[in-house]
Amino acid sequence: METGGRLRLAWNEINRVLGGGIVPGSLVLLGGEPGVGKSTLLLQLCQQVAATGAAVLYCSGEESAMQIKLRGERLSGSPERILIFTETDVEHVVEAIRRTAPALAVVDSIQTLEDAELAGSAGSIAQVRECTARLMQLAKSTGIPILLVGHVTKEGAIAGPRVLEHAVDVVLYLEGDRQQELRVLRAQKNRFGSTEEIGILAMGGEGFEEVPDPAGLLSGLGREAAGGSALTVTLEGTRPLLVELQVLALPTSFGIPRRTATGVDLNRLHMLLAVLEKRLQTPFGQSDVYVNVAGGLRLAEPAGDLALALGLLGSARNTELPAGLVAIGEVGLGGEIRPVRGLDRRLAEAARRGVGLVLVPPGPARAPEGLRVRSVASLTRAVEMVFGEGPLGAPAAGHRVG
Ligand code: TYD
Ligand code: MG
Repeated sequence: METGGRLRLAWNEINRVLGGGIVPGSLVLLGGEPGVGKSTLLLQLCQQVAATGAAVLYCSGEESAMQIKLRGERLSGSPERILIFTETDVEHVVEAIRRTAPALAVVDSIQTLEDAELAGSAGSIAQVRECTARLMQLAKSTGIPILLVGHVTKEGAIAGPRVLEHAVDVVLYLEGDRQQELRVLRAQKNRFGSTEEIGILAMGGEGFEEVPDPAGLLSGLGREAAGGSALTVTLEGTRPLLVELQVLALPTSFGIPRRTATGVDLNRLHMLLAVLEKRLQTPFGQSDVYVNVAGGLRLAEPAGDLALALGLLGSARNTELPAGLVAIGEVGLGGEIRPVRGLDRRLAEAARRGVGLVLVPPGPARAPEGLRVRSVASLTRAVEMVFGEGPLGAPAAGHRVG
């Protein structure tokens, strides 16, 4: 399907991240750690395009044609006819794309390509740079969109010092914990759209599925609440997501306390622990602390601070947070609760999900009907309200809080 010149894929989760589909003649880099699912995802996208009757070419220097074929059969949906070309010589790859003139070409991966005339082996910076330039030239001169895989090392760089990011039109990253089913697709750079949007996918036995409404995967709302779990609404681009932060604080058994954060910035966690210690006299010096974001999501903004702080206190005190409580707000070093962007959108999502009460930073906020919203200026005040005798149960005061 083509709309406005763009090649639209079957999944809106992907189209949205791309800015509405794949632009003709664009070179799109898909980065991610080995095993995260890049090849699987691209094969599925190829199948979607092939299902419309268009020609699709999948070039791989990573796997044999048989391996790719077998994987294709394992994926959901009927296996579609995709041209498969296993090759590592960039010259031959370029030639094959030219010759078959597909509606979409995939090259998996840039690290396996090499230009025979260039010194250095596949994956070296010179090779990666040259091969990418060749593909860019090809895409521009033919109008064929090319999706290029790039493996990312643990340090977060694709093929060395991010040489590739400048040489392509769009850079997407596929993120997520390999042990969990959820994956997030993010645009790091997009010449044809915003870099704010994310796409959510779930990996199952038959490859990926798109997850337009990840509600159940991201929060335990409606499930039995676990001690030290706190809810917040994070904003990913324009998209509000209700997520559950799981926190475990327990006495350290070996001298040095351990802090482990999955999905939350470790420095942020250290800062919040310091603030809790200083402003609320709750010491964590003898506690191991583990934080995990349910579903494998990574919080990219500080609006989850308040929820995380409450979760930490709850776990330290062995007290559960009130069921259905959502906390939104950045916590400053003075323990003050700072405003976050897009509060109205977050509240609308909380209301849609049937949340009971939301703590928000001071300032104007529109409380959707049926949702109780309380503004809190400081962590101390929030703790009084949540764990003390604060006016948590007081009736909603109109539709504006501040
Ligand atoms: P893969 O696409 O090969 O990752 P990458 O190309 O990024 O290195 O994905 C490999 C992982 O995905 C592997 O650990 C198995 C898992 N997987 C599933 O769970 N279900 C599936 O249907 C497929 C095809 C793979
Ligand atoms: Mg792969």
